Amino acid sequence: MPSMNNNISILDKDFKPYLSKEEIQVIIRQVAARINRDYADKTPLFLSILNGSFMLTADLFKNLDIPCTVSFVKLASYRGTRSTGNVLTLIGLDEDISERHVVILEDIVDTGKTLSELIPTLGKRNPLSLEVCTLLLKPEALKHPMKLKYVGKKIPNDFIVGYGLDYDGQGRNLPAIYQIVD
Ligand code: IMP
Ligand code: MG
Repeated sequence: MPSMNNNISILDKDFKPYLSKEEIQVIIRQVAARINRDYADKTPLFLSILNGSFMLTADLFKNLDIPCTVSFVKLASYRGTRSTGNVLTLIGLDEDISERHVVILEDIVDTGKTLSELIPTLGKRNPLSLEVCTLLLKPEALKHPMKLKYVGKKIPNDFIVGYGLDYDGQGRNLPAIYQIVD
């Protein structure tokens, strides 16, 4: 077992400890407390965006004490026509969300491109309300301004891995979050 205080290597890159397991749990408990208050009488539907959000979703859910449901969805981007550009498709959302208060669960918002496409796609399905909960936000990288109701922590514009976040598919299993060393 590597010690959590040590640097780690994934493929060709080195990373240093950035957020410990405990720090992540404190952030999640704070967000969960707000959601418990805001959605006490709403039975929200959480849409967890795979792959990155699986750890956040599991830990957030352990701290929710309100009636709620979750669906795991995936986003696929395929090349459209020249006029449409790349088209984002939502995979795995079979249910009717028109009577639901929906909260999107994201691991991290970077440029905001993903959510800037997903939010209108979901909006067309007429949810009662639609909000975003992201564990992390890189404000300096954000190119698509949007309303982010729940932001666990704002972080610098450096690449990170761990706790669901990957570098070339690896590192998602790390219980803490690590920042790239350059
Ligand atoms: P956006 O569309 O630019 O906001 O990017 C969002 C997605 O890019 C996130 O859901 C992550 O999967 C991925 N991503 C952004 N920044 C990082 C990072 O620092 N490490 C790992 N994945 C990241
Ligand atoms: Mg992601």
